[in-house]
Amino acid sequence: MDLTLSNIKQDPQVELFIIETDRKLNAMSYTDHGKRHAHVTSDRAMMIARKAGFDEKEIEYSGIAGYCHDMGNFLDRNQHHYWASLLFHQVFNSQTDDYEGLTSIIQAIANHDKDEARLTNNISAALILADKSDVHRDRVKEKDKSKILSSIHDRVNYSVTRNDLDVNDTTKVVTLMIQLDDKLTPVMDFFDVFLSRMNYCRKAAEYLGFKFKLVINDFELL
Ligand SMILES: [Fe+2]
Ligand SMILES: [Fe+2]
Repeated sequence: MDLTLSNIKQDPQVELFIIETDRKLNAMSYTDHGKRHAHVTSDRAMMIARKAGFDEKEIEYSGIAGYCHDMGNFLDRNQHHYWASLLFHQVFNSQTDDYEGLTSIIQAIANHDKDEARLTNNISAALILADKSDVHRDRVKEKDKSKILSSIHDRVNYSVTRNDLDVNDTTKVVTLMIQLDDKLTPVMDFFDVFLSRMNYCRKAAEYLGFKFKLVINDFELL
């Protein structure tokens, strides 16, 4: 089997792992880590990979890593990056002889949530940028407005009404543009919750030879 995004999406175990992850994290009151986040991360990782000049296989691997990166959460939120990485290997090791692809993908998945991550592969960098930049109202699962407002995590995500990631391969700048409803959340709260994520993004962009800019409500903040 070739390691392509469409083959991976058709795998019944991957499908189930993502559904169960969604169920578990909903029960734990987390934001969306299910299908929506898998698709957004996968699409973004491929877009970044294309703009950063990856070869065709690396573009495909980036999409796959994006799609599968959080599927280990149903086992445990702690170390979910390792769980997902090992699950990916277990499911596809016997189905493919593309060991290079397999190795790059599991490394990227394992690296996506490590504070001390030292990036050594392109796919990891594309995945981190795609994953950590996914901050949006649509990720909030809670429907009760008063509960949303009382949890800083939900509130900040809920306040983000637009999120665009631009990768400019001429100026070599990755810009995350966020529209934040500051009647719901002061910009400082965004940093409280997402500073470490923005650092991940900066690190990943730099690995790919880009600068990282963060623009909130038309103000350039990073
Ligand atoms: Fe994750
Ligand atoms: Fe994620």
